[in-house]
Order: sequence, then structure tokens, then C-alpha cells
Amino acid sequence: MSHFIQKKHLLAEIRQGDFTHPEDRKAVDFAISKIDFSAKQNILDVGSGLGGTVDMLNQQARTTGLDQDIKAIDYSRRQYPHCRFIHGDVADIRQLTQETYDLMTIFSAFYAFPDQHQACIELSGRARPKTDLLVFDYSSNSRFTKNLFHDDDSPFNPVALDRVEAIFSPWTIKQVDDVTDMFYGSYQNILNRMEASQSTLCHNHGQRAYDTVYDSFTRLMTNFDAGTLGGCLVHAQIE
Ligand SMILES: C[S@@+](CC[C@H](N)C(=O)[O-])C[C@H]1O[C@@H](n2cnc3c(N)ncnc32)[C@H](O)[C@@H]1O
Repeated sequence: MSHFIQKKHLLAEIRQGDFTHPEDRKAVDFAISKIDFSAKQNILDVGSGLGGTVDMLNQQARTTGLDQDIKAIDYSRRQYPHCRFIHGDVADIRQLTQETYDLMTIFSAFYAFPDQHQACIELSGRARPKTDLLVFDYSSNSRFTKNLFHDDDSPFNPVALDRVEAIFSPWTIKQVDDVTDMFYGSYQNILNRMEASQSTLCHNHGQRAYDTVYDSFTRLMTNFDAGTLGGCLVHAQIE
């Protein structure tokens, strides 16, 4: 099994669900409380990981997951056969599907996009009029230059709050919520649970997966403590 999928499964075991974003189902509930969710008919969850969010949203409206990690997509398709999953990069969304969506969600994946503005442009090409976009992710007051995931080649780009309109254009920003407390509490909780179950987690997922997740989350906490990193929920809409 690859190192990256092992890390996802380790986190899923700690969280007892196929989620790798802070506060799991509570974060999804909080995000959809910002919009008229009951009116939604076709949802795209970008960077869907192990598929827990897709399964949760799909209970209300048809939901498709998109992820560039084929192992995560294979797992999601096996685990949630009633949901639809597309394998590919968000940058290629217009080639990957002809469908349009009235809600797009991105939970803890936007930070990994090399060109966030281009991703927003591409996603707008599959949006309907008044489509909502909900992005739940790390934030920083200005461009963040460190990568806190040392074993990961993908970028670490928290949402730069001083450029949020430019990054999300052509989407219109409706609201930005500060969810730093949700991020902080969640990571503190995970570190506590990891320490309490170290031997079981190492046995199930390997020492390397344990060490890299523990080290990354410790670095995240250091940056939350210093105030250089936070969490945000961005609600944007296509006019
Ligand atoms: C931290 S995981 C979050 C997964 C899921 N949203 C959740 O909260 O459980 C980030 C996911 O984004 C995916 N990802 C990163 N960049 C991507 C891109 N450019 N296109 C599609 N998926 C991407 C990764 O493969 C990974 O599965």
C-alpha cells in the first residue's frame, strides 16, 4: 500500500470515518448551513479523498467525488458503490465531465492545488447560474511560504486572506468565516488520540505513517499557536 493512502487510512481510523478534514461531519454540517442546501440537486466534492463527505452529501442530493489519487478513488468506489467518483485533476474538470453542478465543495484539498485561481476558473466552467462553492481549508493572512507536510510533494497553500477575491475570481465571495478554533481543537484532539493509541496505530498502519502524521500535525499546531496559520470557510457563488 502506498505511503499516502496509508496516512489517509490512519487518519480515518482515528476519526472513525472516511474523512481527512478537521471536525469531520460537523464541518460538513457547518459548511452547508451557509447555503440553501435543500434546493441542491447535483453536487461535486473536489479532492474527495476516501469518500466520507461524498457519502454524507449523497444522502441528500446526488453527489460526485473527484480526486487525483487513484488509490483513494478505488477505495471510495468499493466502499460507497451508490456514489459516483471521477479520477483526475481539478484542473482538467472540463475534460473529465460534461455535467454541471449547483454546489461544489472542497474540504481540506484547496491548499494542495498548485494554481488555486486556475482551479476556480476551471470549476466555474462546470457551474450553473448561482452555483455555490464552499471551501473549508487552512488560511493565512498573506501568502504562506513553508510546507508543513515534509513527505508530500504537493504544495501547501493555505487560503491567503489578503487575496481571497483575486484567488476565487470569477466566483463572487459571499462570506468568509474564521474556523481556526475548529481546526485547532480537531488537531489537538487527534494528537491526543494518537498518543493514547500509538501501538495499535503503528501495528495497523506502520511506524512511518504514524511518525509523518504526528510530526506534520505537531508542526501545524506550532503554526496555529504562533497565529501564522488558521482555518476558514469560504462561501463563493457564480452570479
Ligand atoms: C487532505 S485530503 C482531504 C480529502 C477529503 N476532502 C476529506 O476531507 O476527507 C486532500 C485530497 O485532495 C486531493 N487533491 C489534491 N490536489 C488535487 C487536485 N489538483 N485535483 C484533485 N484532487 C486533488 C488529494 O489526492 C487528497 O485526496
